[in-house]
Amino acid sequence: MIEIVALNDPRMTDSHWQALQSLLDNLRLRFDSFYPEISWRKIKEQKLSLLKTDPHQHIYVAVNGDNVVGYITSGGRNIGQPDQSLYLYMDADFENVPREYSLAVAAEMVRLLENYGISEIEYVSNSKRMSQPVDRWHGTQLNILNRYRLIRKAANNGVIERWLENIPERNGDMRLEFYEIMPENYLEQYAELYSRLLSEMPQEGDGNKEYHVTAEEIRMYEEWRRKNHRHQYYFLLHDRGDNITGFSNANIDDLDPTEVYQSLTGVIGGYRGRGLSKWLKAALFEKIGEDFPDNKVMITDMRAVNEPIQKVNAQIGYELVGEGGEFRVTLENLRAALSDGG
Ligand SMILES: CC(C)(COP(=O)(O)OP(=O)(O)OC[C@H]1O[C@@H](n2cnc3c(N)ncnc32)[C@H](O)[C@@H]1OP(=O)(O)O)[C@@H](O)C(=O)NCCC(=O)NCCS
Repeated sequence: MIEIVALNDPRMTDSHWQALQSLLDNLRLRFDSFYPEISWRKIKEQKLSLLKTDPHQHIYVAVNGDNVVGYITSGGRNIGQPDQSLYLYMDADFENVPREYSLAVAAEMVRLLENYGISEIEYVSNSKRMSQPVDRWHGTQLNILNRYRLIRKAANNGVIERWLENIPERNGDMRLEFYEIMPENYLEQYAELYSRLLSEMPQEGDGNKEYHVTAEEIRMYEEWRRKNHRHQYYFLLHDRGDNITGFSNANIDDLDPTEVYQSLTGVIGGYRGRGLSKWLKAALFEKIGEDFPDNKVMITDMRAVNEPIQKVNAQIGYELVGEGGEFRVTLENLRAALSDGG
């Protein structure tokens, strides 16, 4: 029988943590899922610290006998505000995700949504495999979300070098800066810009919930990373008036930087089409290669409708490796799945 157990539940024994490590290793090898290869003690340290840091992170494992067969994470956005929402991401050690697993997760999400008083959850999947539960939950697709991978050795280094040479020359009014910690004087502006650019990402319909990231959240996660051998690398572009005109960032686990996650890149409206995103992404790629010689792969997710960023990424050498999606699943439909057996 599959049971969902929160990572900070006293029922989590060290043998469960070891089983979680085996699961993540297996998912990486079998399905190309993205998890650093670190010891179970470090996984335990990082995850428990994350749960202590962010009260609206909820992480669970799906336990079946002595095995851990699934990893589930849900997080809050704008909690306490009228537009608060929750997202769900998960992975599981199945080619065909069984009904029992989907329903066990549905039951846990019903509890979570009820506790927050939220009426729907946004489910994010990175593969067709992990999109399967959505049918059982009677969910609606908002966007196709493609996963792309860039193998460093196969990157178009000629293109990257040309961008780093030509684009700064053409944009003499811009200054590129690198940060590991967001400087205090840019923090509020960066949080506002990050939220704005998230909402400007092209989408298929208008179903996505907005996420207003705050300066406090940025600092909270920086503090968690500082304690847990992790980094976020930020490159920011500033104009002559010191306004931020664009940024790109990536998440790195220092204990295993083999694969690095390239997260959001954004350029503000009036400055698009000048090659600034290419400059930002090329600089980030180069810096990660210099600072983490063991890095071999960059991973990123992009909505299928986001043509500008796909074009830039294709030029660098990113290749499509998975087709997932962003889905909306209502509390009502989760309850219905539980009562009709999915
Ligand atoms: C995506 C984004 C970062 C691009 O920034 P940018 O600085 O304008 O990008 P660049 O000028 O470096 O290059 C954009 C490329 O996309 C192309 N492009 C622009 N609009 C396009 C469209 N609607 N369809 C197809 N290609 C398009 C440009 O022609 C250019 O390619 P080219 O040099 O081969 O002609 C910017 O549009 C943005 O901030 N969008 C909102 C946030 C977002 O979606 N971020 C990406 C998600 S991670």
